[in-house]
Amino acid sequence: MKVYRIKELLSKGREALHEEVIVKGWVRSFRSNQFISLNDGSGQNNLQIVIDYNNFDNETLKQITTASAIRIDGIVSESKGAGQEIEVIAAKIKIYGYANPDDVQETILQPKRHSLEKLREQAHLRFRTNTFAAVMRVRNALSFAVHQYFNKNGFFYINTPIITGSDAEGAGEMFTVTNLDLNDLPRDNDGIVDFSQDFFGKKTNLTVSGQLEAEAAAMGLGKVYTFGPTFRAENSNTTRHLAEFWMIEPEVAFYDLEKDIDLAEDFLKYCIQYAVDNCKEDLDFLNKRFEEEQKQKPKEEKSEHNLHEKLEFVLKNKFIRLSYTEAIDILKNSKPNQKGKFKYPIEEWGADLQSEHERYLVEKHFKTPVVLFDYPAKIKAFYMRLNDDGKTVRAMDVLFPGIGEIIGGSQREERPEILKQKMRELNINEEELWWYLDTRKFGTVPHAGFGLGLERLVQFVTGMGNIRDVIPFPRTPNNAEF
Ligand code: 4AD
Ligand code: MG
Repeated sequence: MKVYRIKELLSKGREALHEEVIVKGWVRSFRSNQFISLNDGSGQNNLQIVIDYNNFDNETLKQITTASAIRIDGIVSESKGAGQEIEVIAAKIKIYGYANPDDVQETILQPKRHSLEKLREQAHLRFRTNTFAAVMRVRNALSFAVHQYFNKNGFFYINTPIITGSDAEGAGEMFTVTNLDLNDLPRDNDGIVDFSQDFFGKKTNLTVSGQLEAEAAAMGLGKVYTFGPTFRAENSNTTRHLAEFWMIEPEVAFYDLEKDIDLAEDFLKYCIQYAVDNCKEDLDFLNKRFEEEQKQKPKEEKSEHNLHEKLEFVLKNKFIRLSYTEAIDILKNSKPNQKGKFKYPIEEWGADLQSEHERYLVEKHFKTPVVLFDYPAKIKAFYMRLNDDGKTVRAMDVLFPGIGEIIGGSQREERPEILKQKMRELNINEEELWWYLDTRKFGTVPHAGFGLGLERLVQFVTGMGNIRDVIPFPRTPNNAEF
């Protein structure tokens, strides 16, 4: 007798008729003491199990409740029910774990619609829900596609440290890592904490980006990428920010910004296409969900496309490439700016773009993904390559409909003198980053890379509005439950 996962058995369809099989899963519902709807997490669709209750004792039947875990040994037969080709006629039932209906009543396992907020409060149970399980399977497919893309294209996967002494982005949004006794901190004469007595003999933090170490790796391996957890202590409670997220950062020697943008576009399209090709059932389900959600929205917030169309649209169209300066002109003259509709009005060149501006460009003006490049040096990180105009840097951001910034990247400053000058201007400690400067000393080359937040990509592909619903256990301000 073969043990099947339900997805595998359902996709075999009529070919499996009369086969003796074993399936194991959780009961979604049990109707008329006769029909069990069983799901084992392998896919969106449940398997129908048919029971002749005369063949089983009452004690067993009573334990087949919503959420309980069971094993069925049975025979595949043609289904008379609508929407399914096959079902399994149970010959043997084993109860692994009973779930008390009174307790289930209190949880999101109760088979009815629950809000996403409620699902979040029971994040440990939401893997059992259709929506979250679908999102997790798509997330898995996208992660796999990331590795496959880079592997096919000659990149090496490297692991950069999670505990580090450097602030790669220079934004200061870091979580300190220490094992000092917080109730009895060693201090110097000025009362400043003496981290030389800490575990690493210096102040350390959780990484905000693996980029600087990835650059060092690219200077020997040529093409590398990281894919790991990243931490930001930014106190922004938005639908697109997490305190802990997963970032993918490719870094390539001998690449300039144009090549970097080409890579970003090709890579994003590959991953999205992979999900479209491999997650059909889940995307169909998420599309229905998306369409229903859109119906509830006020007219001006409604998406013109359903989820499938959104994905197809991005796959088919070339991303628009636009300099920051051109973008500022468009924004300055835009209707919302002139009518005072932006929360942050665009007045002059040099303004940092807010998500309302990014989304205007993508969703209203161009209606297609946009790559902005050559940003003012003042609003970008220290490592970006200075242009000949002396005031812009070779930075790029990829902006997506409904998301805003999905990728941030740049060509790096490979000239040691200009890099040092910039670090001095920004008060970045040269001694701390001696090793980074070394990469410009021994055979420096033009190079470039970018960072993609995995969760933002999952949000785009699944159509989920809140980033907390695309990661198993979200970490956000005031929330580290589970
Ligand atoms: O633009 P960011 O800050 O760029 C970097 O960290 C560079 N070191 C990347 C590089 O060039 N190697 O972050 C890159 C991407 C963003 O575009 C966004 O997708 C995601 O990381 N991201 C976040 N995702 C979720 N929550 C947050 N708090 C995020 N901050 C950035
Ligand atoms: Mg950015």
